[in-house]
Amino acid sequence: MSADRRPSGPFRIGDRVQLTGPKGRLHTITLREGGELHTHHGVLRHEAIVGQPDGSVVVNSGEHEYLALRPLLRDFVMSMPRGAAIVYPKDAAQILASADIFPGATVVEAGVGSGALSLWLLRAIGSEGRLISFERREEFSQVAEANVETFLGEDPENWDVVVGDLGERLPEVASAGTVDRVVLDMLAPWECIDVVAEALTPGGVVLCYIATATQLSRVAEYIRGTGLFTDPEATETMVRGWHVEGLAVRPDHRMVAHTGFLITARRLAPGAVPPDVRKRALKKPSYADADVEAWTPGAVGDRQITDKNLRKRVRDAQRAADGARQAAGDRPDETVD
Ligand SMILES: C[S@@+](CC[C@H](N)C(=O)[O-])C[C@H]1O[C@@H](n2cnc3c(N)ncnc32)[C@H](O)[C@@H]1O
Repeated sequence: MSADRRPSGPFRIGDRVQLTGPKGRLHTITLREGGELHTHHGVLRHEAIVGQPDGSVVVNSGEHEYLALRPLLRDFVMSMPRGAAIVYPKDAAQILASADIFPGATVVEAGVGSGALSLWLLRAIGSEGRLISFERREEFSQVAEANVETFLGEDPENWDVVVGDLGERLPEVASAGTVDRVVLDMLAPWECIDVVAEALTPGGVVLCYIATATQLSRVAEYIRGTGLFTDPEATETMVRGWHVEGLAVRPDHRMVAHTGFLITARRLAPGAVPPDVRKRALKKPSYADADVEAWTPGAVGDRQITDKNLRKRVRDAQRAADGARQAAGDRPDETVD
């Protein structure tokens, strides 16, 4: 993100703003010269917001008040157009910690889906890092690219999206031993563990995000069976909101209970065989080839988007990115120290 796109300071032309209006209705706009938000409560001119501090209350032509805030990344990913299911913020935060994503890291991600996790990864690696995201469905990669451009206001130079299967394309794109971290969010991550082991630098981390316990078991056994990694560690992250008002202090009645599991392991140095790893690698795998057939999208409850719906999501995401690009073009040049 260029310095003038920092999400802080007074509102500027080109900024995305989340407005909470009468009855808590949310509107997200991109500030542009001469822009207006029309609702049945009246007209809110973008000029009334430009120059105000983030978190201001602005008034429209009908004297209705709107709270103006820049959307946080977690707000944006929850409302952006989706091709595939996204990684929720609670899991993204844990992924950054468990996979130890650091500024300057070279990170491989697959599949890119709607680009939610890509945004968190790009933020964590910073401008010195490099993110290579693989996606086998071209339309999904288009949704993801448009979402990233909408949020960051630019197509980051340190981000490459490769359309194709990770298992086939990773060896062509990344030389052996050059990748610091790999994050897999896909139906059958075990199919990619061999190429991931080849690409990872010794000590590097592989993290898989998977939805079901059966997938978790299969990928854990696969990682163990290679003998190339430390023993995998699995976790699940539950975040429960609390209602805190006066004496009414209690957990929220509703929560997002299950999204997925995380499993991580570290790449051993070439030839290094810790005794426990040698023993595990010699054990017979607990899955036969026929079992692999069981992990179909339907069997694990993965809802498939129709082609028509997906084309609509691509158009929505690209329209938002066009708006962001156009608004950024309207922005007067700014000098930043
Ligand atoms: C659940 S989505 C990823 C969502 C993404 N992490 C996000 O936060 O928006 C899973 C994606 O993986 C892609 N995929 C599955 N297997 C793949 C593979 N072997 N190589 C590349 N992409 C793959 C699918 O097409 C799908 O878009």
